[in-house]
Amino acid sequence: MPHTAPHISESGLVPPPARVAVLGPGGIGGLLAALLSRAGHQVTCIAGEETADTLRRGGIRVRSGRFGDFTTAVEADTALREPVDLCLVTVKQTALDAALDRVPPRLLADGLVLPLLNGVEHVDTLRNRYGQGRVVPAVVRVESTRTAPGIIEHGSPFLEIDLALRHEPVVPLAALLTAAGADTRVLPDENAVLWGKLAFLAPFALLTTRYGLPIGAVRSERREELAAVVEETAAVSRACGGQGDAARILTRYDAFPAGSKSSMQRDAEAGRPLELDAIGGAVLRAAQRHGIPVPLTTRLVSELEEAG
Ligand SMILES: NC(=O)c1ccc[n+]([C@@H]2O[C@H](COP(=O)([O-])OP(=O)(O)OC[C@H]3O[C@@H](n4cnc5c(N)ncnc54)[C@H](OP(=O)(O)O)[C@@H]3O)[C@@H](O)[C@H]2O)c1
Repeated sequence: MPHTAPHISESGLVPPPARVAVLGPGGIGGLLAALLSRAGHQVTCIAGEETADTLRRGGIRVRSGRFGDFTTAVEADTALREPVDLCLVTVKQTALDAALDRVPPRLLADGLVLPLLNGVEHVDTLRNRYGQGRVVPAVVRVESTRTAPGIIEHGSPFLEIDLALRHEPVVPLAALLTAAGADTRVLPDENAVLWGKLAFLAPFALLTTRYGLPIGAVRSERREELAAVVEETAAVSRACGGQGDAARILTRYDAFPAGSKSSMQRDAEAGRPLELDAIGGAVLRAAQRHGIPVPLTTRLVSELEEAG
């Protein structure tokens, strides 16, 4: 097979138009697909038949205080059929296995895979399928909701992506994302990137969902439990090579608007499947591997499993 150099890795300066696939054009994927398309890249959204059809006909409509309100055309299909330089994976963990059937590894032989799911374990799933060097571990910080197929509400004033540096093409990838509007950092250590987010997210997601309370009420009514779960997940994060400063995490929660809900809580309220295994399950498995006791996290996960 002739070798085609990925456009993204050709230059460290201004990224040329790239061929980008977005698997799962929901809150995150739809926002990034629209921004990348607006920036001039050739974007193909990969989705189920109904969503693909809607996107093909009407494009993606974004409402955003940060990026403005705009509609942009994208290509859309139910499977990837041509090679791409970059494939964003933006489905939820609960849909990951089924969704990956839509993206054959041979079409990413020269491209990069950028997963933006919460959690840590999907990175190995993707590496096993697409190859060790093709997957760039990353996290995204944003609030973005798909209110209907092709309709995206970007609610936060920020859109931040952290990429873990494993090999050279990550730098042009960061430039491409930054030029499209996402504040993108390249950090040296994937464990710091992935666990930094999970250690922060897991206590917030588990407690708000378990008790059906926004963060303000969790802070005031269940402060001790919050602090203890934060200690547990921070200890697991440190053992996994990530950050784990419990006091800093609590300080960040204290700065949240009192009404803030986690996306797991919103999924529970809407009766959607929870990313419980990717968030709570991953913490428990890592704790077991490292011999760290996490009794409160264990209890919360099992109560949420029973409730589901
Ligand atoms: N939203 C946020 O603000 C936010 C912030 C940080 C991290 N995250 C993380 O980002 C990930 C994505 O979350 P999200 O909120 O963007 O989810 P979402 O809005 O539910 O979007 C998921 C998308 O995946 C699509 N999908 C589901 N099953 C599929 C399949 N088998 N094949 C192809 N597409 C499929 C859905 O398609 P349909 O359109 O057909 O339903 C939907 O468009 C999660 O891990 C989440 O925790 C989200």
